[in-house]
Amino acid sequence: MAALTWTKLRSAHRYLGHSNLLKAYIRHSQKHENFCILSIHNDRFIRPVTLSYASRRDIRYDARVSESRNYATSGSRRRQLVLGIETSCDDTGASVVDEKGTVLGEALNTQQKIHLMHGGIIPPVARRLHAANIETVVNMALERSGVSLEEIDAVAATVKPGLPLSLAVGTEYGKQIALNAKKPFIPIHHMEAHALTVRMVEQIEFPFLVLLVSGGHSLLVLAHSIDRWSIIGQTVDDAPGEALDKGARRLKLRNIPECSSMSGGQAIEHLAKEGNPRAYDFPTPMWKYRDCTFSFAGLKHSLLKLITKLEEEYEVEGGNIIPPIRDVCASYQYAITKHLVRQTQKAMVYNDIRGLLPKENLKLVLSGGVACNHYIRSALQKLCEVTGYQLLCPPPKLCTDNGIMIAWNGMERWKAQTGVFYDEEAIKAIDIQAK
Ligand code: KG4
Ligand code: ZN
Repeated sequence: MAALTWTKLRSAHRYLGHSNLLKAYIRHSQKHENFCILSIHNDRFIRPVTLSYASRRDIRYDARVSESRNYATSGSRRRQLVLGIETSCDDTGASVVDEKGTVLGEALNTQQKIHLMHGGIIPPVARRLHAANIETVVNMALERSGVSLEEIDAVAATVKPGLPLSLAVGTEYGKQIALNAKKPFIPIHHMEAHALTVRMVEQIEFPFLVLLVSGGHSLLVLAHSIDRWSIIGQTVDDAPGEALDKGARRLKLRNIPECSSMSGGQAIEHLAKEGNPRAYDFPTPMWKYRDCTFSFAGLKHSLLKLITKLEEEYEVEGGNIIPPIRDVCASYQYAITKHLVRQTQKAMVYNDIRGLLPKENLKLVLSGGVACNHYIRSALQKLCEVTGYQLLCPPPKLCTDNGIMIAWNGMERWKAQTGVFYDEEAIKAIDIQAK
């Protein structure tokens, strides 16, 4: 259990409120460097609470009870605000949200066009662009929110997983402004943020099943609480977004004017709308296995082989596009979708056998950049209709990387007082993690 230092205690006082503070006896156990808060009500001890990271929740509860009692006499309580910063890949994002999930303001600078020109993300280029834009993006988010840094309760930033050079920019910037403004810092797991975004827009209680599909991940997860997750399936090689992006690059979709500024997944979805999904056959990944593991590298290689064959057949050279492009995109998208649906169905069967989710309230949350895809959404919707699940997806804008989801994840942690760092030395010591 983490020991409580004076800095943390001072922050807890702020959280408890002055009136509550006066009602609390604080004893310092010199020996263990721990503090004990004994809540008093009507001059009687109700229950002793040992203040530690693990028991902050109790303290917050006490504070809420006592403050709501104060509403009648002292007017409404100030709203809580978290500033979120995202730089895990190629988007520099920042936002301020309140405890109800209202977005006060946001700013996003996407590097997509530049990386499309390079034929993929070059990490040092991404870092340079994050570094050049971070201050403007954060200031813009604050300005649009109409609040100053002083009015923010905590600063949250993505610290993992992602490209190390990109992560470092947002993490260091977030830590620095938190330290300068004497605010708590909340390190955020990027995938956790994707998974919890839906709770900002929908009333959804734990537990639920989550399918996270992005440019770097493919995960089937059981969400038990904001910081307890069980992974029940993940990719052994590529992520679906990666398979779509690399496929789109090889198909030279950037040379099609209407697709020139789209991500690979977006461009494939766009062209697939007028294609035949059964025109070309792709292998079924992992069909021999009974688990929920994903694999997209085989599909990607089959696509690359098909393109080479069709280029020879149609004598296509240089930057030109193969004539059956729409059918190829539709068939590839269908194969990726089928794999996602099959493995998700296996996860549902697994949950059913093990009784991991309440039968009367089965929910599947779909999130991550690939969740923008309407074809994939409607295929999963059909699966949910037959399995009795309710499908929940954040709006497409919130599925791709953004600062809002980081601010919201920070707010969820702030409200639960879990994973919030108050101590200056502890904040300084927080480091990024690529995985
Ligand atoms: O979550 P995200 O913004 O970044 C990562 O955390 O990776 O996801 C980006 C991925 C890219 O691979 C992109 O091609 C894919 O999401 N994507 C799509 C669509 N829009 C973005 N994939 C399929 N259909 C889309 N409409
Ligand atoms: Zn992402």
